[in-house]
Amino acid sequence: MNIKKAIFPVAGLGTRFLPATKAQPKEMLPVVDKPLIQYAVEEAYAAGVREMIFVTGRHKRPIEDHFDMTFELEIALEQAGKAELLHIVRSVKPDDMECIYVRQAQALGLGHAVLCAQRLVGNEPFAVLLADDLMVGEPPVLAQMVEQYREWRVSILAVQEVPAEHTQRYGIVAGTPVNDRLLYVDRIVEKPKPADSPSRLGVAGRYILTPGVFHEISTQQRGVGGEIQLTDGIAGLLRREKVFAYRYAGRRYDCGSKEGFLQANVELALAHPLLGPGFRDYLKSLPL
Ligand code: G1P
Repeated sequence: MNIKKAIFPVAGLGTRFLPATKAQPKEMLPVVDKPLIQYAVEEAYAAGVREMIFVTGRHKRPIEDHFDMTFELEIALEQAGKAELLHIVRSVKPDDMECIYVRQAQALGLGHAVLCAQRLVGNEPFAVLLADDLMVGEPPVLAQMVEQYREWRVSILAVQEVPAEHTQRYGIVAGTPVNDRLLYVDRIVEKPKPADSPSRLGVAGRYILTPGVFHEISTQQRGVGGEIQLTDGIAGLLRREKVFAYRYAGRRYDCGSKEGFLQANVELALAHPLLGPGFRDYLKSLPL
């Protein structure tokens, strides 16, 4: 079975990125020349997902506009004979991709955001992508996870080793190794203190989940920060079903933080086929 639907929780306030996010969604911040949300949507599309479900909130209209047709712009580019730019604009939303929006009226947490999409997902496995985690991998990280899902048919969480002093930023998993990349998860804790952390394997913002997780989220008490946590729903799920953690091949940039965002911009600009060489020369010329 393929993963056809993905949830993009985009209702968050982006307080870590003020003042840039005062009046615009953090998911619209551009890395080089594309907004963060577009990277996440392209990653889902590359993994075979065709139904993109955005859980939005107030002030998130620019996201909907970005994935809509920009009629005036397309006409203007067409009339000016700017075929390449027209192609760039049109490829933001391929014809076989559907975008669906549901509002999360109150920011009650990531688990609550996922729950808002329950009726749209129905009774099938789905992906969750957090757009402020920009993932670079070849094949793309979600495609790697879909491949694992096809083999094992269980929920798959993307994980990476994190510094001991950063466990409080992540959902942390522990369990038994299945192979080099996979771990059979028997514990998951949201943002533990280093001293209480069961391991240093932190969850990155990519999940493939079975629909049983909805019930688990809905029966959890509020967790860390008084929020309804996805991690707590997954903790419930793994008491009933197998859940695997997958050490992805690739790199993650935490673009919800200013440092991660700057790193992503520098590294992706250096890797950019057109901008890269000139940008490299420019960086070398700086008196560092
Ligand atoms: C969320 C999740 C956390 C996960 C992280 C990945 O936290 O709650 O378990 O490790 O995303 O980026 P947030 O960064 O939204 O606080």
